[in-house]
Amino acid sequence: MILLNPGPVTLSERVRQALLRPDLCHREPEFTALQQSICTRLLGVYGLPPDHWAAVLLTGSGTAAVEAMMSTLIKDTGSVLILENGVYGERLTAIARIHGLHHVRLHHAWDRGIDLDAVRACLDQNRRFHYVALVHHETTTGRLNPIAELAEICAARGVGLLVDGVSSFGAEHLDFMRWNIAACAATANKCLHGVPGVAFVVVQRQALPPAGQAARSLYLDLRQYCEAQDAGSTPYTQSVQGFYALDEALSELEEEGGWSARQRRYREHLTHIREGLAAVGIRPLLPAAACSVVLNSFHLPEGMEYLTLHDQLKQHGFVIYAGQAAFAKVLFRVSTMGAISADDVQRFIAAIGDICLKCESPNADPV
Ligand SMILES: Cc1ncc(COP(=O)(O)O)c(C=O)c1O
Repeated sequence: MILLNPGPVTLSERVRQALLRPDLCHREPEFTALQQSICTRLLGVYGLPPDHWAAVLLTGSGTAAVEAMMSTLIKDTGSVLILENGVYGERLTAIARIHGLHHVRLHHAWDRGIDLDAVRACLDQNRRFHYVALVHHETTTGRLNPIAELAEICAARGVGLLVDGVSSFGAEHLDFMRWNIAACAATANKCLHGVPGVAFVVVQRQALPPAGQAARSLYLDLRQYCEAQDAGSTPYTQSVQGFYALDEALSELEEEGGWSARQRRYREHLTHIREGLAAVGIRPLLPAAACSVVLNSFHLPEGMEYLTLHDQLKQHGFVIYAGQAAFAKVLFRVSTMGAISADDVQRFIAAIGDICLKCESPNADPV
């Protein structure tokens, strides 16, 4: 079965085998070495020096990392401007509400790009903003939000960025230093090709709250994890097998040539998918220039419900993903993440072509 949903991803055999490494207690030195290796290599994905940056590992899904980032870093004395244009932007607001963080939301419809003039206006009206929080790749639609332009707007006003990079870290360009990214939350089981259960935040050490400041959460207190990691430890039981898998997945990424090589591979897959689907009349929601290389949304074929397409593709060995909320009736999504070959992509295109043909002429004799 090839997973074309946006995580968990199809594992390589090598990563799958890593799950079978020896049992290990998280209080043993071998675990400390494993954790240290992962932290160093996560920083290495974007060439970040460990004296100014930390990759803080958590056991949980991507949302845990996003919630830890928001609840640890946003100070009571400041405010955050949250940019929404999909489910995950709206989730940032939900987190801010639950933790009682001072925030302002700038809402956009899910199929809209971020209005940069509105961002400027919000930041200029309210000087208390310490951060803008945004989703880099809004997986709701496949849109890659314009982080470089936003970073420029923020830098001119001394505002930092909090980035949900859950579905972009490892395959899209992230210029942490130039864009003044204070922190970026991500997960092992998307563009890094690990297994679910390990998430992390890459954070500027100076953005962490000072020692002694009360935490808003016990389990999601990034500072606590960071201090423990620096001391070769961890506050809580970590997902040891998930760490094994991420360690191996990071080796694969390095051998492939890093994030830019992965971006190239994903782009090739998506180009073929967009061309293949266009040939059978399936239209993308957004132009390629507005999209990530990680996932695109497509209109359902005329007269076909999502479940019909999903179930027939599953019989061919492919799992696609539904649109969310109102998009469920009109869109489906296809992701390029995971151990997917060019051959898999060609077979997927052939399968969907076959399904569309049968739908147009249900009584036709098989060729
Ligand atoms: C951009 C983005 N943020 C957050 C999440 C939430 O991740 P999780 O389901 O691993 O908690 C997702 C999941 O797809 C996502 O795509």
